[in-house]
Amino acid sequence: MTGNSHIGTATILGGVKLENRLLQAPLAGISVRAFRLQARRYGVGLTATEMISSHGIHYRNRRTLRMLEIEPPERPVTVQLFGSRPDIMAEAARLAEAAGADIIDINMGCPVRKVVKTGAGVALMEDERLAASIVESMVAAVSVPVTAKIRSGARGTVTAPSLARRLEAAGAAAVCIHPRLGEQGRKGAADHGLTAHLAAELELPVFASGDVSSPSDVDRLLEAGCAAVMVGQAALGNPWLFRDLLQGRESHVRPAVEVIAEMSRFHEDLAAEMGGERAGRFMRKFYGWYLRPFRPDAELRDSLRRAAGFSEARRLLESQLPACSS
Ligand SMILES: Cc1cc2nc3c(=O)[nH]c(=O)nc-3n(C[C@H](O)[C@H](O)[C@H](O)COP(=O)(O)O)c2cc1C
Repeated sequence: MTGNSHIGTATILGGVKLENRLLQAPLAGISVRAFRLQARRYGVGLTATEMISSHGIHYRNRRTLRMLEIEPPERPVTVQLFGSRPDIMAEAARLAEAAGADIIDINMGCPVRKVVKTGAGVALMEDERLAASIVESMVAAVSVPVTAKIRSGARGTVTAPSLARRLEAAGAAAVCIHPRLGEQGRKGAADHGLTAHLAAELELPVFASGDVSSPSDVDRLLEAGCAAVMVGQAALGNPWLFRDLLQGRESHVRPAVEVIAEMSRFHEDLAAEMGGERAGRFMRKFYGWYLRPFRPDAELRDSLRRAAGFSEARRLLESQLPACSS
């Protein structure tokens, strides 16, 4: 492997210095600030917000604006925006930049109906002219790099190469590809043959997203010419994965005591971000992921679901988890 195709190598993207080439994927309903802080603690070079509505920002929706709150320790951070109006996306980009975004990313991959029917998300892959015009407006509006996260295509046909070339001409600083069609959702395997093709064809940096969970996945993508590699679902309940990948080693199951300590730390950050009650509810999404290696029985899973808050859940875990098989 050549020196600069190593995941731990620093890189500069449109003037933004990244410590390494490992990126945390934007995850709706998950990559809140506490999640991003955790990903940074485990070493990722760039964190990402969940997708944020440009219309919500335009109308100064309070919940949306709260999603733009950024803290120095999570930086460098990408703020991902979705929308289909170039003027509103440009305005949202300006606010995101003022809030501290290091990079602004455009969501061109979300296949959820509610988003697609407004012409946003993966629908932009079917209107390349509009997609390019959104990039142009945003690039003109901010001084930070503007990137786009795309899929292979929307429906039926692979259109990523022609779209990516247009986005490059429109001033995008990089594209990230999740090589599945929009209509596939998360089904099937990510087609990283397409990722390699894009990385070879384009001048601009190409990031890869999809099914990355081991050092060999990372090496393959970097050797194919990708500038950076993104990790999403594999890090759910396993934030150690980020550090393991940076050190080039396979992830292993952590002892119960370490897992509980990590969950507590994460909960603490969640509580600071959203208040104790919401943090307790938010944590419930994560129990299944953190506890997967311990194969908790139905009774423990049920008790955790019914726990009033994280302190109660923690007491249950402390008394029962060490006895679970791992
Ligand atoms: C729960 C969930 C939420 C997601 N939310 C977003 C999002 O807000 N923006 C986006 O560009 N991609 C989103 N994605 C796609 C991921 O960023 C990533 O491209 C995809 O999951 C493939 O990578 P992985 O196999 O490493 O998870 C989401 C995926 C999941 C599973």
